[in-house]
Amino acid sequence: MGYGNNTLDELRTWILDCTKCDLSSLKNRRPVPGWGNPNANIMLIGEAPGAVENKSGKPFVGRSGQLLTNMLRLADIQSARIYTTNVAKCWPDSDKNGKQKSPTKKQMATCISHYLVKELEIVNPSIVIALGSKALGAILPGEKISDCHGRLIDKGGTAIIPMYHPAAAIHQPRLMNVIREDFTRIPELVKRWMDGDRIDVPSELVSPGNENLAINPY
Ligand code: URA
Repeated sequence: MGYGNNTLDELRTWILDCTKCDLSSLKNRRPVPGWGNPNANIMLIGEAPGAVENKSGKPFVGRSGQLLTNMLRLADIQSARIYTTNVAKCWPDSDKNGKQKSPTKKQMATCISHYLVKELEIVNPSIVIALGSKALGAILPGEKISDCHGRLIDKGGTAIIPMYHPAAAIHQPRLMNVIREDFTRIPELVKRWMDGDRIDVPSELVSPGNENLAINPY
């Protein structure tokens, strides 16, 4: 695969044809490339497509997607302004009880190095909203979502806003209020970032300005 001056369309073709990990041998599997405004200022990164996304070919169109849409309304973010993708581009299948599996470290590492790094380079967002621990782990390895959700973190000049994954509220309803509050604060965080105001960014979470948006290959 040659990575020259590629575009999101090329990346999309590669993702749709991908055979880089064992998920490519799953029956009925349909890779789900990122979706949205290629010039977006804000990129949202989730964990992996679910069964509904696997059918439709678009990220966040199932139950998590509905929750996310509601949260984005709270944050006053129109979907036309954003680009949405996942760490893993394929549905990781269900276990024997019908519960969706998480992608393995190896599957995520493969997808990150071949696709997510490139996607970030091409879209080049000012702000990345990392939805859940897998997305956070890809961008800020070592940080815990319970410690840094709803905060603004400067990663080499890109703002990272970690958020609990909206699906977390399905399994832990007590998180719903926290998630709502965090999303409600996004406009203030975005404004601060755009205004160049870094005063409240917790110093322990500010990384040196010359660091690239390096991604954890797991
Ligand atoms: N759907 C997605 O596309 N990503 C998730 O992380 C969850 C559901």
